[in-house]
Amino acid sequence: MKDSHGRVIDYLRISLTDRCNLRCRYCMPEEGVSALSHEDILSLEEIERIIRVAAGMGISRLRLTGGEPLVRKGIAGLIKEAMRTPGIESVALTTNGILLPKMAAELKEAGLSRVNISLDTLDEEQFHYITRRGHVADVMAGIDAALEAGFNPVKINAVVVRSLNQDLYEFARMSVDRPLHMRFIEYMPVGESAGYDGTGWGPQDVVSCDEVMETINARCREEGIPELKPASKHTPTGWGPARYYEFEGAKGTVGFISPLSRHFCSECNRLRMTADGKIRPCLFSDEELDVRAAVREGTDEDIRNVFLAALGMKPDEHHDKIGTERKMSQIGG
Ligand code: GTP
Ligand code: 5AD
Ligand code: SF4
Repeated sequence: MKDSHGRVIDYLRISLTDRCNLRCRYCMPEEGVSALSHEDILSLEEIERIIRVAAGMGISRLRLTGGEPLVRKGIAGLIKEAMRTPGIESVALTTNGILLPKMAAELKEAGLSRVNISLDTLDEEQFHYITRRGHVADVMAGIDAALEAGFNPVKINAVVVRSLNQDLYEFARMSVDRPLHMRFIEYMPVGESAGYDGTGWGPQDVVSCDEVMETINARCREEGIPELKPASKHTPTGWGPARYYEFEGAKGTVGFISPLSRHFCSECNRLRMTADGKIRPCLFSDEELDVRAAVREGTDEDIRNVFLAALGMKPDEHHDKIGTERKMSQIGG
């Protein structure tokens, strides 16, 4: 599939639920999102049918997101079914890691290709402040479980926010002893008008990846160790926009995702589907197309037409406009 700007679109991010077992401030209100009702949410069978149609059109890579995708019952079966679909080469997952100790082995067996785990800080107090209910040790146990189950690469995502005092250097150094890919993401002030942003954060809280890298390198100079250099040996498989660096002798890498300071729209390869069956041509645009009606009332051709329309609507770039209607938990990042 190509969009109207000539970009090959072969990656679909599927949000399985808008629910979550954490309440990260930049993503959800304390009381949770006004959770979609059972009928609003696509059934696993409906998602599988959409995957079959999309695969027939050239989608070969899937990422399951949320909310927290592991709270959706039946996810292992969905992965198995997706991996059996002709045309689908890999299925990845973005998770907060809390349920991985219980589920990593089952997910690996189902055929899941890769996992990305969100962890914004290693400091328990800060972590609890951000997630309102999580513990660092639980995510660490999730990371251990992912490595033990044999996932490779395992990537760890930290959203960087100016008004938090994050341990950027310590986080990056987790890439040294184990094959972990520690990634910094510029905070995206998405969904501000959704009315339940518990942060008070805004555009002033975006820290550019260049600044994060300089903070880490300054600390390297203090510690008398070599600065980060572009990754050579261990660059992980990825479909996303991260740029990778490494510490000397490290088993993993340090990645930077800079949607704001150096956007990657010209290389965009993806569409998104929300849990309630809306295709979102661009993360930053509030425009959406309804594939749920097509899957409930229409033919495969109707589903295809929704994808084709979404391709036609993909903007060339986000022109620094950021959508305001949905929060990340309702889009899947
Ligand atoms: P890899 O294939 O492992 O590199 O994954 P990924 O970076 O595509 O996925 P992940 O779910 O781990 O997302 C990491 C961060 O990148 C999240 O904060 C996403 O919101 C952000 N991100 C992913 N795709 C896009 C995109 O198309 N546009 C923008 N602005 N941000 C994106
Ligand atoms: N800005 C940047 N990244 C975000 N994520 C969630 N909300 C935001 C935001 N506002 C990240 C999560 C997860 C990934 C899917 O998106 O931390 O790692
Ligand atoms: Fe849950 Fe992820 Fe949102 Fe945090 S960022 S509340 S872990 S969906």
